[in-house]
Amino acid sequence: MTQRKRIVAGNWKMNGNLALVQAFSDNIKSDEFPGVEVIVFPPFPLISDVSKLNVLCGSQTVSEHDAGAYTGEVNASLVLELGAHYTLIGHSERRTLFKESNEVLVAKFDKAKTVGLTPILCVGESEAEREGGLTEKVIAEQLTAVIDKLGVASLKDSVVAYEPVWAIGTGKTASPEQAQQVHKFIRDMVSQYDESIASTLPILYGGSVNDENCDLLFAQADIDGGLIGGASLKPESFKRICESAVGMV
Ligand code: PGA
Repeated sequence: MTQRKRIVAGNWKMNGNLALVQAFSDNIKSDEFPGVEVIVFPPFPLISDVSKLNVLCGSQTVSEHDAGAYTGEVNASLVLELGAHYTLIGHSERRTLFKESNEVLVAKFDKAKTVGLTPILCVGESEAEREGGLTEKVIAEQLTAVIDKLGVASLKDSVVAYEPVWAIGTGKTASPEQAQQVHKFIRDMVSQYDESIASTLPILYGGSVNDENCDLLFAQADIDGGLIGGASLKPESFKRICESAVGMV
């Protein structure tokens, strides 16, 4: 059986401050979770501080540009220089609130890889799309945007996160079976291009994961960890989720 990376990633979104960094410093130590990569995605100004903790660090997005007159943007090489190893690409809030298209996201994904950050590509359907039976179509489009432009090899040493939009921040999590079904769809789809990349690709579930529902989600065959929003702001809950991932097979 292929051993895939197990990952618990905390997406702070536009939350957190130096006090939360300190609380993580006091409570979350990666070393206590053997076999699990613990990653925290704070707002940009905290990347340097979080990178000094006993966790890995990532940014919530990066610019698709190298440098220059792009007021308010942050480039991937600076994120790397500040100590981060990962970046989220295509979180649903970036897609909807900031109107990031598949085309722009492919450019961001490419830039992250080029500078040496590991991208976590977020995919997922809205409630209306699920109700309309379009879940697989939407996810296939989001994935093929990357594969068509950058090749399936770009998914090697990358990560995918399945985050149904209707489950993000709503308390309405996908059932373990619903999540597993989509994770398997993603892995099967990548497998049609390259079996070995598919078998080693970590696929995280995100959307109202908490310290109570994580065990059943993490027990699913194609779920390799979680992308945690709200519960990542509470060190005690986040710690419990990291502990749950230690037990994953
Ligand atoms: P949530 O957010 O855990 O608060 O639903 C997940 C995410 O947006 O990554």
